[in-house]
Amino acid sequence: MDLFPALDPIPLPAPVWLFKALHTLTLALHFISVHFLVGGLVLAIVWAFLGRARNDSTLLNASGLVVHRLPIVMTYVINLGVPPLLFTQVLYGRALYTSTVLIGVWWISVIALLIISYSFLYIMSVRADSSKATGWVGLIALAVVLKIGFIYTNNMTLMLRPEVWVSMYRENPYGLQLANGDPTIMPRWLFMMLGSIGVTGIALVFLSMKKDLDAPVTQFLRAWGGRVLAAFTAVQILLGAWVVQSQPDAVRAGLFSGAFYPSLLAVWVMTAVAVAGVGVLISTKGFTGWTVPSVVSAAGLANIASMVLVRDGIRDISLAAKGFDVWAQPVVTNWGIVIVFVLCLVLALGVMAWLVSVVARAKPISERYA
Ligand code: HEM
Repeated sequence: MDLFPALDPIPLPAPVWLFKALHTLTLALHFISVHFLVGGLVLAIVWAFLGRARNDSTLLNASGLVVHRLPIVMTYVINLGVPPLLFTQVLYGRALYTSTVLIGVWWISVIALLIISYSFLYIMSVRADSSKATGWVGLIALAVVLKIGFIYTNNMTLMLRPEVWVSMYRENPYGLQLANGDPTIMPRWLFMMLGSIGVTGIALVFLSMKKDLDAPVTQFLRAWGGRVLAAFTAVQILLGAWVVQSQPDAVRAGLFSGAFYPSLLAVWVMTAVAVAGVGVLISTKGFTGWTVPSVVSAAGLANIASMVLVRDGIRDISLAAKGFDVWAQPVVTNWGIVIVFVLCLVLALGVMAWLVSVVARAKPISERYA
């Protein structure tokens, strides 16, 4: 029996490889934003509580600097989440729509949860501006953000398990359940959430380069940036091993056969080790100039891109084992639309680059939160 709903009679309007390439690019950007949001929130909360307890202005200023940027980071999380969602739906709709319906109430609740967490980020930012406590507000935002991540992990793993869909639907057809009993959920969720703290180290390195910061704040951001990079990238390597180990035998075998996925896994491990190594260097010796930030961000980008591709491999191997081959779908390419799309994409990227350059050239404002 075919476990998947019937194929959509409308063929794909562009080649599978093009959708996959765009999906990889946009999902990597979404994950970078998610990492900065989760990691930034965790660190800002810790520093806010510690800063108040010790009456330490360096901690409070560092926390305020991060808090002030979180609502902007959230805009990137959302806007860079939409494109990969569209590409995933086009490529894997038969699996993704089914799992989405099964957890429907949770899935639709993401919109409300986003509004709630976004509001609390703004409240945090306003309170930081007037040197008020932000820790408790931040904890509420963090709890909601972690829940959103958990719902995403549930859906992205449930879409790989067509064998449980019918029984889940019979048990409760109202979309009220999450995907219980799947051993891959917890490692995947922890990988993304705890790994975020390490990736945020890269953001701290760049934040520390902001002109007109007090010297102790610069040093603090660099020391913590290096430490969290080293410690939480090491944690993420262990969690990555757990993610792979928790996969069914057939998926693990698929990941280690041929040259493509083993090479990506090797790139992922090597770049993770490099990032952690640079983290140790920064926390012990500090840095000057652009070399260290450039190296660590290049290694970090390669690390996240290879992770996105391995993750995609887990999906393709899992689904292929159950009769869904993403590459075997009818394609009737509408080249006119594809060209217009690519032109719009290039234009949008150009506008974004221009905006970044405007921000970089803007007169720096002095930020004090304590
Ligand atoms: C606070 C907000 C958010 C958090 C914390 C978050 C977190 C995550 C996490 C942890 C994953 C990986 C799940 C896994 O595979 O284990 C994920 C995947 C994804 N997220 Fe987000 N997300 C957020 C908001 C959004 C929004 C608003 C959108 C789109 C409108 C979005 C689109 C996606 C897509 C499309 C994927 C996976 C795509 C794929 O597998 O092909 N996310 N997100």
